[in-house]
Amino acid sequence: MTRVAIVTGGTRGIGEAISVALRDAGMTVAANYAGNDERARDFTQRTGIAAYKWDVGDYDACQDGAARVAAELGPVDVLVNNAGITRDGTILKMTYQMWKEVMDTNLGGCFNMAKAVFPGMRDRKWGRIVNIGSINGQAGQYGQVNYAAAKSGIHGFTKALSQEGAKLGVTVNAIAPGYIDTDMVAAVPPEVLEKIVAKIPVGRLGQAQEIARGVAFLCSEEAGFVTGSTLSINGGQHMY
Ligand code: CAA
Repeated sequence: MTRVAIVTGGTRGIGEAISVALRDAGMTVAANYAGNDERARDFTQRTGIAAYKWDVGDYDACQDGAARVAAELGPVDVLVNNAGITRDGTILKMTYQMWKEVMDTNLGGCFNMAKAVFPGMRDRKWGRIVNIGSINGQAGQYGQVNYAAAKSGIHGFTKALSQEGAKLGVTVNAIAPGYIDTDMVAAVPPEVLEKIVAKIPVGRLGQAQEIARGVAFLCSEEAGFVTGSTLSINGGQHMY
């Protein structure tokens, strides 16, 4: 049986690697994106994976987007809540807008997308939901009260929803990536990033594919007994 997966923020960075890994695992993948049409077109040309545009922070857009994927590709069995943004700054400089954008996208997006696909998973008695948290949701990070709060919320969301999904055949897990070599991490000031990398025991940034392999495992048929868990993939930077 070919499973259908939605990967939010699935055309760039960690999301791109996840989309490709799930496709390579035999799934039909819909890669959601919010803004960058050019990168999405390039992604589809390179990978052959369909890209769908909607804002995960918008509840109605998630309902419509998921319905469009189901109509075109089939019922959605797998959801990877990967879409995330940063608006870093110390609290003295952080505006309400910076707080709200991060909460709406990173945490609100998980709720909006789960609401869109969970009923179908319940009806078909099978589902896989993987939420991408962060080391900074586990440990906190200077300059990220918004992002750390949202990612920490994702870990709570995962544990709560896993309890609701367990008897329905729906597993819900999280991955907590450390610092991965993506555009998001490249935006950290170089002198700050250098200090962060110096604290990673394996001595380097992670690769997006190293996160994607974990996601592919959690989405597999064989992972049915794994639920409510958080897999940290961070080069030993934080042990939780
Ligand atoms: N601990 C203590 N002090 C720190 C600090 C830290 N970790 N980082 C910065 N500071 C201090 C600086 O030394 C500086 O002190 P002085 O004023 O005494 O010189 C002060 O904080 C900086 O204050 P600013 O007013 O310049 O701060 P700002 O509001 O402009 O914010 C910052 C700066 C955004 C925090 C910047 O340092 C930064 O980008 N830090 C990196 C944040 C980070 O790691 N983001 C992760 C992005 S990737 C990601 O999130 C993916 C993932 O899941 C891992």
